[in-house]
Amino acid sequence: MHPHKPLSLVAFLTIVAGIVFVVRYGSQGTPLQEIESWIRPGFVKEKAPMPAACEDQLDWLDIYNFTNPIRYVSRDIITKPVSSRPGSDRPSLTILDEPLFLDLETADLSQSKTLKSEKCLPPLILEVPHVAMPAVDASNMIFGLQTTIQRLNDTAKHLARWLPNTNARLFAIVIDLVKDEETPANDQQMAALEKEFHDKGMNVSIIHPVHPDHSLPQRSFSLVDVMYQARDNKTEWVICIDEDTFFPSMYDLQAMLSAHDLSKEQYLGSLSEDWWSVNHYGLMAFGGAGILLSSPLAKVVHDHNDDCIKHLRTTSGDISIMDCIYKYSTTKLTHIPGLHQLDMGGDVSGFYESGREMLSLHHWNGGWGAAFEMEKMHLVADICDSCFLQRWQFSNEMVLTNGFSIAHYPKGNASGKKPAGVLDTSSVDKINFNEMEQTWSPQSLGGDEMDVQHSLAPLRGKLPDDVKMGYKLLDSMYIDSDPTRGKKKDVVRQVYFNEGGEGEKDTVMVLNWRVGTSNPASAAPAGQNSSVSAI
Ligand SMILES: *[C@@H]1O[C@H](CO)[C@@H](O)[C@H](O)[C@H]1NC(C)=O
Ligand SMILES: *[C@@H]1O[C@H](CO)[C@@H](O)[C@H](O)[C@H]1NC(C)=O
Ligand SMILES: *[C@@H]1O[C@H](CO)[C@@H](O)[C@H](O)[C@H]1NC(C)=O
Ligand SMILES: *[C@@H]1O[C@H](CO)[C@@H](O)[C@H](O)[C@H]1NC(C)=O
Ligand SMILES: *[C@@H]1O[C@H](CO)[C@@H](O)[C@H](O)[C@H]1NC(C)=O
Ligand SMILES: *[C@@H]1O[C@H](CO)[C@@H](O)[C@H](O)[C@H]1NC(C)=O
Repeated sequence: MHPHKPLSLVAFLTIVAGIVFVVRYGSQGTPLQEIESWIRPGFVKEKAPMPAACEDQLDWLDIYNFTNPIRYVSRDIITKPVSSRPGSDRPSLTILDEPLFLDLETADLSQSKTLKSEKCLPPLILEVPHVAMPAVDASNMIFGLQTTIQRLNDTAKHLARWLPNTNARLFAIVIDLVKDEETPANDQQMAALEKEFHDKGMNVSIIHPVHPDHSLPQRSFSLVDVMYQARDNKTEWVICIDEDTFFPSMYDLQAMLSAHDLSKEQYLGSLSEDWWSVNHYGLMAFGGAGILLSSPLAKVVHDHNDDCIKHLRTTSGDISIMDCIYKYSTTKLTHIPGLHQLDMGGDVSGFYESGREMLSLHHWNGGWGAAFEMEKMHLVADICDSCFLQRWQFSNEMVLTNGFSIAHYPKGNASGKKPAGVLDTSSVDKINFNEMEQTWSPQSLGGDEMDVQHSLAPLRGKLPDDVKMGYKLLDSMYIDSDPTRGKKKDVVRQVYFNEGGEGEKDTVMVLNWRVGTSNPASAAPAGQNSSVSAI
């Protein structure tokens, strides 16, 4: 059956997760201290990690109402930081010569909540750019968006993934929609919502449109002026976003911005992936990917605000901003490919699974294609920041795209090797994971084939179901590794899921992520550098 996920489930899960004490690794409920002894010098260099018996408590799965029995497997992951430089590149794909999982077990939750396995793999050590990063200082950024009070409320939990405690400010111009009619938002509601943001460490100012008669493009336009006027001596960037613009790593965003000369007018942004849109609307920063203006350029827009706001050519905010810039400045767009408007419709998994740089994401909340619960997908970033959507390929023909999916290639197309047990030794076509799988509907909204080469190449065709099995992220939450040691909510658990077809079982794959430190003090002798401790 399909597990539905009502909103209240999130709160419920958090409570359940809080009280669940997960005993893994060690046959007779050996507590997690044991994990430390797994992580001994030299261990990760061993080619075949020895499996041990283990048990999993599965009562926390009850809330999902899976059809019993299910196929189940889990693995603990300890992250090993390899870089101290925020914003540094991460590999697009890391190939490991060990499996992510051994065989899946069958579990019948109606019979027993304890799953005993003969063979479990020890924790997996994965190299990530960095771990447990404190909030970045983004006092040089002022963000602005305009939306309805309801949509701002709905997106609060997503903003809470990247905005809090960064010293960045955000201005939100809100209106209300009553029976599809625009009306001013209620002052009490605005104040209450603003307080909620402040309570969560987000410096959000919720305001009415600058002028009550302003149309939608005029509002997004006057927002630049609001932000510019609110600048202080730290402000360097004025950034227009949509309420569904998401910044996966503020470190990476900051690192990208720091490469640009602030004393000059800068117009940074990204083109639509849809060449038709670029061709029709212009060489501009498409709004959902983020429109990033250096202070000197924001001043140009501010100085000519009255004129620009009166002479709108279209009903769209991003075009109006481009028009104003191109009328009063010689500055042209600097295209930042890592910012993403995401104009493809339908199944965009190929995009998320591409391993490419993701400085911003957009159109993920259902209006355009599939709806993703971004705040769950992104939770693992608390452990290892830009490891979100990082990819690892395992020897069991699995590719993990962190926070999005685990893909299994049963015919051996990931490695290009026939799976063990297949007698036929002819070669298998190996997938080029540098190419983005074109999973989305090839038709643009206009009905013609959507041309995305300028933005997303190199591309490859969509894979059939018998070549690629996708296990998508179903849920993610914090759990305690060991309440008795006073460690609270230090593990991010991810639940990946595939609904079985007719006569097949549902499959649940669980990954438990912890912060590790590279520990030179206890580095192994014999030239091994792989010692990692969990903290
Ligand atoms: C599971 O089933 C119970 C009882 O039928 C229902 O109240 C609950 O909402 C369901 N949960 C999910 C996640 O579908
Ligand atoms: C915001 O959403 C919450 C539920 O998530 C609701 O209780 C609250 O009334 C909403 N506030 C506004 C201003 O819509
Ligand atoms: C928001 O930032 C401004 C400017 O730094 C500061 O004056 C104000 O106190 C902050 N507000 C909150 C609620 O943090
Ligand atoms: C920036 O402004 C703050 C207060 O608004 C002031 O204390 C500080 O000296 C200023 N810094 C510079 C470099 O001007
Ligand atoms: C995957 O491997 C199968 C079996 O060898 C082969 O027939 C197929 O063409 C391959 N597909 C891709 C997309 O590489
Ligand atoms: C171990 O790491 C250090 C510092 O990163 C490096 O200089 C050294 O070459 C590494 N040794 C081996 C054997 O990889």
